Amino acid sequence: MASASLMKLNASSSQWIGQKSFNRCTNINNNNNRVSFSIRAGSYTDELVQTAKTIATPGRGILAIDESSATAGKRLASIGLDNTEPNRQLYRQLLLTTPGLGEYISGAILFEETLYQSTTDGKKMVDVLRDAKIMPGIKVDKGLVPLPGSNNESWCQGLDGLASRSAEYYKQGARFAKWRTVVSIPCGPTALAVKEAAWGLARYAAISQDNGLVPIVEPEILLDGDHSIDRTLEVAEKVWSEVFFYLAENNVVFEGILLKPSMVTPGAEHKEKASPDTIAEYTLKMLKRRVPPAVPGIMFLSGGQSEAEATLNLNAMNQSPNPWHVSFSYARALQNSVLKAWQGLPENFEAGQKALLARAKANS
Ligand code: 13P
Repeated sequence: MASASLMKLNASSSQWIGQKSFNRCTNINNNNNRVSFSIRAGSYTDELVQTAKTIATPGRGILAIDESSATAGKRLASIGLDNTEPNRQLYRQLLLTTPGLGEYISGAILFEETLYQSTTDGKKMVDVLRDAKIMPGIKVDKGLVPLPGSNNESWCQGLDGLASRSAEYYKQGARFAKWRTVVSIPCGPTALAVKEAAWGLARYAAISQDNGLVPIVEPEILLDGDHSIDRTLEVAEKVWSEVFFYLAENNVVFEGILLKPSMVTPGAEHKEKASPDTIAEYTLKMLKRRVPPAVPGIMFLSGGQSEAEATLNLNAMNQSPNPWHVSFSYARALQNSVLKAWQGLPENFEAGQKALLARAKANS
C-alpha cells in the first residue's frame, strides 16, 4: 500500500504520474493554491482505447490459456500427459492454431512461457495469433500468498518490477494484461482483504496502461461456500465499489480497461441452485450499480461452472442491450471439452480443435 503522501501527490497533481512522466510532476500547490484533478492522457491512451474496443467486438470473447506451469500440469495430468515444456507447447499450439478461431475469439491470455514460445514448426505463437486477428495478452501477476492480519485470506503479488516487465511484454507483442486476485466470502471477506485486492488491481492497471497494455481487472469472488446469492451480491457490490474508487484515484483511463468479474451466483455449496435468468438479473443489477458505461467490455470468468452453465448464464445476460459489451474470458469452460477430445493423441489433434471452436461459437 502506498503512503498517504504519495496518494495525495497522485490525486493532486495535474500531471499523469506515469513511469515516463515521473520527472515532470509539478509542485502540488503551484497554481494559486488551486488543486487540479484533471487527468492527462499517457502516451498510449489512444492505442489502449482502440485495443480495448477491438477485444470487445460483438460476437467475440477471450480465450484464457494463462495457467501457470503447475496448473497447466494439472490439466495435462487429467489426460495422462507429463507436465513437460514440449507437452505444454503442443497443447497450446493445438488451441491457438485452431482454424477459424478469430471469428469468435478476439484475445488470448498467455502465460509468459507461451508469449516467448514458437510452435513446433518454428512460428512464434504471437504471430499465429496476429495472423488470426487475435490480440495477444499476458498474465502479469505473480500469484496469491497468505495475507497477514486477515482471516486466512490472500493477496496477489507482482507489482515489484511490473513496469519493466510490462514494457518487455509490449515489445514481445502483448497488447493487454491480466491480474487475478481473489476474494473469499466464507473467510469474511475482511475489509483489509477487499482493500488490498482493490488497491493492487488499481496499481497494476495504472502501470499496465503506462506501458501500453490494456489491463483486465479481475477480482475473482470465489464460488466456494454455502452463502446465498444475496450475500454474493452484497460482497460483489462492495468489492467493485472499492476497485473503481482506487482505479479513479490512480488516474486509470476507464475507456482503456476490461473487467473480468465472477457472475453473481449462490455459493457452490448453497442448498439451492439459481437459474440462468436469476444469475443474469443479479449480475447485471450489480454491474449497472457499480460499473461506469465508459468501460468498453465485461468479460466473465467461468470460475468452475460447467461449460454449459457458463454458456447459458452468459446468454441470459445478453437478452437485452447492456451499456458495455458483455462476453467471456473463459479458461476451464472452453478447455474442458478440448482435453477430453484430444487425450494427448496426434490422431485427435483436429478433434480437439473442433471442440474448442464449438465452445467458442456457443459462447459467441
Ligand atoms: P476460469 O474461466 O477457468 O475461471 O479462468 C479464470 C481465469 O482467470 C483464467 O484467466
